[in-house]
Amino acid sequence: MFLKLYRILVFLLCLNVVYSDICTNTTSIRCDCKEYTNIQTHLPTFFADCSSRFLTELPENINDGLNVIDFSINAIETLDANKRPLNSEDLEELIFGYNNISHVDVNFFQNLPNLKKLDLSNNFISSLENSEIFEKLPHLARLDLSFNSFKTLPDFIFNPLVKLTHLDISYNYMGAYLTQSKTVLEKMLCLTPNLTHLHMDGLGIKELPAGYFDGFNNLKDLSLADNEFTLIPAVPYSVEQLDLSGNKLSFVSANYLNYHSLKVLKLNRMVTLTVIPHYAFYNLFALEKLFITDCPNLKEFSELAFDVLSKDIDHHIKVLSLARNGLNSLNESYKYLFRKMEHVDLTLNPWVCDCNILWLQNFALEFFRSHEIRCHYPSELRLKKILELQPSDVKDCYPAIYGKKSHRVLIVVLSMTVVVLCGLIFYLLRYPIKGLSGKHRISPNSPYGLTSTEEQ
Ligand SMILES: *[C@@H]1O[C@H](CO)[C@@H](O)[C@H](O)[C@H]1NC(C)=O
Ligand SMILES: *[C@@H]1O[C@H](CO)[C@@H](O)[C@H](O)[C@H]1NC(C)=O
Ligand SMILES: *[C@@H]1O[C@H](CO)[C@@H](O)[C@H](O)[C@H]1NC(C)=O
Repeated sequence: MFLKLYRILVFLLCLNVVYSDICTNTTSIRCDCKEYTNIQTHLPTFFADCSSRFLTELPENINDGLNVIDFSINAIETLDANKRPLNSEDLEELIFGYNNISHVDVNFFQNLPNLKKLDLSNNFISSLENSEIFEKLPHLARLDLSFNSFKTLPDFIFNPLVKLTHLDISYNYMGAYLTQSKTVLEKMLCLTPNLTHLHMDGLGIKELPAGYFDGFNNLKDLSLADNEFTLIPAVPYSVEQLDLSGNKLSFVSANYLNYHSLKVLKLNRMVTLTVIPHYAFYNLFALEKLFITDCPNLKEFSELAFDVLSKDIDHHIKVLSLARNGLNSLNESYKYLFRKMEHVDLTLNPWVCDCNILWLQNFALEFFRSHEIRCHYPSELRLKKILELQPSDVKDCYPAIYGKKSHRVLIVVLSMTVVVLCGLIFYLLRYPIKGLSGKHRISPNSPYGLTSTEEQ
């Protein structure tokens, strides 16, 4: 409370006053400092942007008062509490991404009791001394260790971080360490069920021990991209967003994709994927966004991938991206899906331009970058925009369309003929003789024969 009052006071009294030495010209570097209102807390936040300043070490005299400091894109090599200690009650976010950090002193984070977010990504850290390193960070909610050189982490390392919700350990060398038993996350790393976002991309993982995510019932965003999975691994039932891109999946099926909360699924960048079979996404009741892009060998996308599509069924899917695959065609039944979507991307596939593709022309407005939806076969139509195909381009099927039109014309012509004929008959009955010359034979017995007798 006192902290809040203090901050508001500072905000009111010193609107344009600098809050820390690193915001002035008195030090060798000068960061860009500003204040803004935190959207969540509605408190004024004091931010120092010290990125891209060729720093090789932390500046001296970082005083209290700053809430967020961004040291990204510098050349800092160590975080050492003895050389450059960092003490601040106010600091909530600390960003060290894209530096040359290879060593982090175990005491470095001892005096930052309110730190909520720490980004150490894109450095050269290969190990942390022991689990005391995060001991004094009870409020840390987001931790990014991605793009480093970790092979292992100290046992119980995340034990003090009971509030940790976001963890990114992607692109390290921890595959073997992380898959040695099914309880690594829970018992060795001591992650809690409070975890909601976990990114484990690029770790060389082939498979996960059964029950690997047991207990992580709040996990909503899970990324396992750029690993070596050949089968879709079992993930928590709570997951809403799942990224399996860049793996070696060849088989996608409803048995493995049985997550009723899943809203966003990404299956991009897989040369092994050739077919999306019937009912592959049938069990994803909540699916809103599906991304399957950059799978050059994906030739077939079943007309039943979601289920039978018809105009009477309402679909929840809002975004479908099938860009840069090897698809030749897409069944016309997808028109029922496309009618109400926010984003459909079919660009840069080798579409076959025949009668079966012309239905796409009805969705010119729905398609993302529709000018990139082009024919690949037959060769004389290569690179032609599908939405601009003319009757003369696809000869064999446009006549069929015209056929229907000519039927309509025929019906109109026939009806008119009938009307004219009726009129004629009526006319003939009403004014039988006058209009007709003697060319017409009339029976001698006819009551209308009178005038014709002249001829005889
Ligand atoms: C601080 O340094 C910048 C550029 O180096 C200069 O433009 C500015 O006038 C200096 N401000 C003060 C208060 O010296
Ligand atoms: C989850 O976080 C809350 C604080 O937000 C904490 O009190 C609780 O102990 C945490 N749960 C576990 C299992 O650590
Ligand atoms: C689309 O799918 C339906 C249902 O399986 C099938 O009858 C039809 O022939 C398919 N159309 C094309 C052009 O492949």
